[in-house]
Amino acid sequence: MYNFIMDTLDKIKSVCENCILCDLHKTRNNIVFSDGNKKANLFLIGEAPGENEDNEGKPFVGRAGKLLDKYLEEAGLSRAQDLYVANIIKCRPPKNRVPKTCEKDACRKYLYEQILAVNPKVVILCGTTALTEFVKDKKITEIHGKEIFIDIKGKIFKAVPILHPSPLCRIKDKQQVMVEDLKKIKQLVRG
Ligand code: URA
Repeated sequence: MYNFIMDTLDKIKSVCENCILCDLHKTRNNIVFSDGNKKANLFLIGEAPGENEDNEGKPFVGRAGKLLDKYLEEAGLSRAQDLYVANIIKCRPPKNRVPKTCEKDACRKYLYEQILAVNPKVVILCGTTALTEFVKDKKITEIHGKEIFIDIKGKIFKAVPILHPSPLCRIKDKQQVMVEDLKKIKQLVRG
């Protein structure tokens, strides 16, 4: 089973490395495929790689990533053990703009195959871009911390939206809200 997951993810990654389905391939230094545990119970979806992520080829390694690590630690979750981390798109948009619809459309199949291969107990939708991939009619500020269900190619997964850790997101008491939501998520997977 484990080898099957590894093989599947490795295959998707090598297809992504050669992907030219949208214009972002022209400016990327690296694809940003994933980080974390391939057998994790939690699959966190962020928005898109930034400059640090594009340079290192890993998600959430810049300022937002440092904040995410801090919130996870405070909630008692281990990024390396409990989480598998990816983004809605695998290549950095110029000047860190929000991904365009055509970029999300091009990249969707890779993300969905990753989710199916990892088969997590809970998908964490981190921020508005991840939320609106699945839920169009709710704002992250209304729905964060709530359990919902999402459909990945006919398979239903439990999901919980959370705020985005970006330092630009200046919601009052954000740290407390993030940690509370992550603790609820920990309860869902650890009981
Ligand atoms: N880094 C990522 O990999 N994703 C984000 O959404 C933000 C920063």
